[in-house]
Amino acid sequence: VALFCLKIRSDCRGNSLKPVRIGICGLGTVGSGTFNVLERNKAEISARAGTDIVIQQIGARRGNPDCNTGTVEVVHDIFDVARNPNVDVVVELIGGTTTAKELVETAIENKKHVVTANKALIAEFGNELFAKAEANGVRITFEAAVAGGIPIIKALREGLAANKIEWLAGIINGTGNYILTEMRDKGRDFSDVLKEAQALGYAEADPTFDVEGIDAAHKLVILASIAFGMPLQFEKVFTEGISNIEPQDVTNANELGYRIKHLGIASKSNDGVELRVHPTLIPEKRLIANVDGVMNAVLVKGDAVGPTLYYGAGAGSEPTASSVIADIIDLARFIATDTVPTQAHLGFASEALQEYPVLPIAEITTAYYLRITAEDRMGVLSNITQIMSQQGISIEAVVQREPKSEGSQASIIMLTNRVKEKQLLAAIKTIEKEDGIVGPVVNIRVEALV
Ligand code: HSE
Repeated sequence: VALFCLKIRSDCRGNSLKPVRIGICGLGTVGSGTFNVLERNKAEISARAGTDIVIQQIGARRGNPDCNTGTVEVVHDIFDVARNPNVDVVVELIGGTTTAKELVETAIENKKHVVTANKALIAEFGNELFAKAEANGVRITFEAAVAGGIPIIKALREGLAANKIEWLAGIINGTGNYILTEMRDKGRDFSDVLKEAQALGYAEADPTFDVEGIDAAHKLVILASIAFGMPLQFEKVFTEGISNIEPQDVTNANELGYRIKHLGIASKSNDGVELRVHPTLIPEKRLIANVDGVMNAVLVKGDAVGPTLYYGAGAGSEPTASSVIADIIDLARFIATDTVPTQAHLGFASEALQEYPVLPIAEITTAYYLRITAEDRMGVLSNITQIMSQQGISIEAVVQREPKSEGSQASIIMLTNRVKEKQLLAAIKTIEKEDGIVGPVVNIRVEALV
């Protein structure tokens, strides 16, 4: 007599749990990583989910040599996956905001939960997609959309749920961080390093998204909405890239005890919310100042917990897959027991979300690094300091670099106190008109991050 032993997973009442069937759309860097990790860690993943997770179907225009899909059905039309009655969760890994949006909408209309790594989609269309998901009794999860493998969404939404979040600051674009690190450590040229980051597969399809801060702005607005409980307002993020950072500013910052990092900063006060992405000098002794290469880190300050720091790989195939699969497991726990996740998309009940005013950049208060190029003659420095004091700006540190040769120009480097941006810009405007000042005044914001 042949004895078949069938292991059936069951809930706490002993009822057997059905396997959860997923459809993966997109088999690029993240899609192949998701497939491979799901296969490799099948036992652990099923044990954690409390049920089996089955890859029911893959939607991809072409295969990926990094991924052996074996007997899993691969279809060319991703919309077949979104409509497949045997798929419970659609995993959107195609990127972009046009087809990806239609795909997610189709999945939701077909009552499927969605897992996505698509930061642009969530940042720009999250409000309407979440509303549609809620109306259809399904969920969109997006852990992989911010900081790749770092579980920062879960940390903010769940781990820190007791706190009023005061501010957060993150290195949330690996490509930009890699470029700044190489410029600092090896004195390399900006465009040279960018080409290497593209070859390594970290950069966005359009690398200006990385270097001009758009990718970081997408991620920042998602973090800020979860931190403060407000709808996504991507268009209100102030964004400044790193393409104008010159090697001499990197060196000057180092000599003053600072590092230049491309930070996404969100903070909330009685005046409103700040949402800004820009190059920032931060004291080198801060842990986050030492996050180098393609790594990401997010510093979050909660009123109860104090400062907390989250560090890890912000991009790449398996780190991002790690977050995608964590979301799949979360959903599987509900699907297997025929329940609907109650957790709100942004951590706050949707009716409790508040549209706080977002401060224009001219209204923010911060310290500044200034580099002024001037003719090397008497009185120039004293004129500058006079203009600064007239604007109520005090100078915390000043260094004057000797001209390299007779008759060439001097560099005056300054660190100011914290001042309103509009005050600083007014002072710069006056300084630039002064006799003996050459070219524009370089200014980079400085944050102490305490
Ligand atoms: N281009 C992004 C980065 C990929 O460099 O961080 C991850 O979102």
